[in-house]
Amino acid sequence: MTEHRSPDAKFRTSLLEENDGPATNLTDNRTMGEIITARFSRRCFLKGSLAVSAIAATVSPLALVSADQARAAEGSAFAFDELEAGIDDKHHVAPGYDADVLLRWGDPLFADSPEFDPTKQSAQAQAKQFGYNNDYVGYIAIDGSAEHGLLVVNHEYTNPHLMFPGIVKIVEKDGKKSAEIAPLSKEQVDVEMAAHGGTIVEIRKDGGKWQVVREGKLNRRITSNTEMALSGPVAGHDRVKTNADPSGTKVLGTVNNCAGGVTPWGTYVMAEENIHGYFSGELPEGHKEAANYKRLGIPEGAYEWAAHYDRFDLAKEPNEANRFGWIVEVDVNDPTSTPRKRTAMGRFKHEGAESIVAKDGRVVFYLGDDERFDYVYKFVTTGKFNPNDLAANKDLLDDGTLHVAKFAEDGSVEWLPIVFGQGPLTAENGFASQADVLIETRRAADLLGATKMDRPEDIQPNAVNGKVYVMLTNNSKRKADQVDAANPRAENAFGHIVEIAEDGGDFTAAKGKWEVLLKCGDPAVANVGATFSTATTANGWFGMPDNCAVDSAGRLWVATDGQGPKATGRTDGLWAVDTEGSARATSKLFFRVPIGAEMCGPLFAPDDQTAFVAVQHPGDGGEDWQPFGRPSYYEDLSTRWPDFKPDMPVRPAVVAITKQGGGKIAV
Ligand code: FEO
Ligand code: CA
Ligand code: CA
Repeated sequence: MTEHRSPDAKFRTSLLEENDGPATNLTDNRTMGEIITARFSRRCFLKGSLAVSAIAATVSPLALVSADQARAAEGSAFAFDELEAGIDDKHHVAPGYDADVLLRWGDPLFADSPEFDPTKQSAQAQAKQFGYNNDYVGYIAIDGSAEHGLLVVNHEYTNPHLMFPGIVKIVEKDGKKSAEIAPLSKEQVDVEMAAHGGTIVEIRKDGGKWQVVREGKLNRRITSNTEMALSGPVAGHDRVKTNADPSGTKVLGTVNNCAGGVTPWGTYVMAEENIHGYFSGELPEGHKEAANYKRLGIPEGAYEWAAHYDRFDLAKEPNEANRFGWIVEVDVNDPTSTPRKRTAMGRFKHEGAESIVAKDGRVVFYLGDDERFDYVYKFVTTGKFNPNDLAANKDLLDDGTLHVAKFAEDGSVEWLPIVFGQGPLTAENGFASQADVLIETRRAADLLGATKMDRPEDIQPNAVNGKVYVMLTNNSKRKADQVDAANPRAENAFGHIVEIAEDGGDFTAAKGKWEVLLKCGDPAVANVGATFSTATTANGWFGMPDNCAVDSAGRLWVATDGQGPKATGRTDGLWAVDTEGSARATSKLFFRVPIGAEMCGPLFAPDDQTAFVAVQHPGDGGEDWQPFGRPSYYEDLSTRWPDFKPDMPVRPAVVAITKQGGGKIAV
């Protein structure tokens, strides 16, 4: 095929991430917004009345703000000079820090890897080079070192219009220019498949600067063709059997690995998120998976893989999509090991999988399902973590209880077990086993009455203060009739952060308490309703929290996805957010990405002396990205970060941030 697709089809891989699906939760379960509204309409009324009388009796509102500001600034856990927010074609870090590009798309990872040549890229070369759109970044120490370890990096997705020369055509119709993208060749699809997945690569800090060790014996690329095993309750079930795999246990590859985690026993876990985009075609009429797939937005067809590989065509392989949407665990100590899709942890649009060892030794994973109106989950292992024999933990993730969160107006949260035979999860509702429940985790959670959230992204337990932080990016689809006067956000355009404290400080607890740490957006615009502290500067506020990290001092760092000229007048970046004492909800800008990019990672080295951040899809974006006012594509890019060479396209890359002269970050 040589014809160009319609402008409507342009850059659909970018839209896949931006829109995160069609909001497929059609239940009547209450939204988080509704519950916040109900809860805070009362609380704000009370606080508001008290505050007004206090001000009237003592000082002017202006003096009160200044005193607040001083208190918050004094109490901050972060000591660095704030970076100025803005938009340009480069990355920027706070004064006194270096931000060095460590790994770019196409960088060689092995002694025999070819050098990157974007005009001659092949699947064979790509499989030995750093993949595209780096998202999750993890560090697994070698011999306990903070300066020598394995960096594990997810490659979430590909943007063909930024990767391949000669496929975008600008057409003018009725005086308006738009971009059309040509169908990809099989060779280009193969490059895409090899650019997905993950990278495991040895890195070492020499003379204060990180280097990639190309000879590293554990270096490995995982792609959309790497053989994987399905394990846990769904393995071998009829609903995951295909023509190529009648056993229902063997899957080729992983896709859309967004965030992830490193387990306490040193394995790498990758979350499969927007799986719907890879599938095309139609299920046979009346097929039993129709409702299941609809709930996940499958098929979406943003990618053209089905044109070359039958397994992505629902008409030809109706069960293949049940083999995606899982958490994948990789044993990094054996580069020939088979990654395992851990089905006990549920199937949905998994954002990440950060974990913590509970008091009794069981391990708790917090899991977000990133879609408008979808849910927050946690998985509690049945077995206990064995710190003395790491290999003894190798199948901990095959046996445990998945729970979904139900948030209540009184500030409590209940974790509802998702277990076959309990409550509505029975044959009456079409479940014959725990495998059925897990394959349709969303429907099971719907039936349990879980709380519909505003796009749950990273969820990070904090070992220092015992709390859990939930990033909720936004939800533009929340209707005005779901909001009342006490919550002036007609749409949750800027997202918020929820802080959970599990009962008794026990991460396995069935109940906890919750608070909103932050409602995001510009605090200077009254009807946005943002709740940053008054010490937060014009550079310090942000919208669309997505990824986050907690450093070893227990401080929270938040990375954003979706800011820009129209949304917030600034690029995405990394913000330091105080959670404790008088400085609570004070935020400061530390790093920002070039135009068109999203901020992923972030990750702190165990000694807190390096912050690794992942700059994803630099140079992406279309008309919204003024002053360019046009789609950005291979031949006509809004930035050529990070190389800034005329013959080199944009390259997603991991950046290592260190303090000039050494020392811990932001102390
Ligand atoms: Fe891939 Fe939910 O961000
Ligand atoms: Ca994300
Ligand atoms: Ca995102």
